[in-house]
Amino acid sequence: MSAARKRLTAAGLRGHKRPMAEPLVMLTAYDFPTARALDAAGVDILLVGDSVGMVVLGYDTTLPVTMEEMLHHVGAVARAKTRALVVADMPWMSYHTGVDDAVRNAGRFIKEAGADAVKLEGGIERVPVVLAVVAAEIPVMGHLGLTPQSVLRFGGYRVQGRGEAAVEALVESARALEQAGCFSLVLEGIPAPAAAAITAAVSIPTIGIGAGPDTDGQVLVIHDLIGFGGEHVPRFVRRYADMTGTVIDAAQRFVLDVRAGRYPEPSETYPE
Ligand code: KIV
Repeated sequence: MSAARKRLTAAGLRGHKRPMAEPLVMLTAYDFPTARALDAAGVDILLVGDSVGMVVLGYDTTLPVTMEEMLHHVGAVARAKTRALVVADMPWMSYHTGVDDAVRNAGRFIKEAGADAVKLEGGIERVPVVLAVVAAEIPVMGHLGLTPQSVLRFGGYRVQGRGEAAVEALVESARALEQAGCFSLVLEGIPAPAAAAITAAVSIPTIGIGAGPDTDGQVLVIHDLIGFGGEHVPRFVRRYADMTGTVIDAAQRFVLDVRAGRYPEPSETYPE
């Protein structure tokens, strides 16, 4: 493996802060070919998000996603053997029922699926879980703000961290998660000034989604970026492609070719 392809590690990313370091780039990936393509594009971190439940499996929320479904997708991404760090998202109820369950489930992502680290949602209340998973030698990425697994408590997908008290609570949680051993934090659905304040309060990198420009990195869901599915486009998404249009166009041309007898041609057919 050349120096340029040296794998990124959670330990190596721990001090990755702007402006000394350039912004980290994270994208979600749920399968082998996408993982290879994103790695070839130079993405630093591949997050096998539980968003797979909504964008690939058709669930309305991330709550139904199971450990078995996540292991299936994390394994596919990890087998791409990327330079990028592979982070497995712990699904709802895989770490809420006690630290023993959390350690066992986090361990499965490393041992059975080949992930490099895990991510879990929540603030200061997750400190015991983070301490236990880190003590089991597993790197942990935290996730604060509009945490989708809290959709029932929030009453919808609502921006968090509005008002002084809310910002202070997020800063306190960020510091507690850093102290507990998280190597980085996702900040989701937070006004830009609040995300900037959290980023300045910790020495581990923050990676924003809908959190403005002042975090240490940015993450998007790959299907949002390439325009594949999803009628609703959140304000923070920048679309770089129209994959739905591309797929419909290709499939329609195949339909026409088959029905008109133009496919297959002799060059596409095995001779005797
Ligand atoms: O599941 C996911 O894709 C995520 C990102 C939105 C950060 O948690």
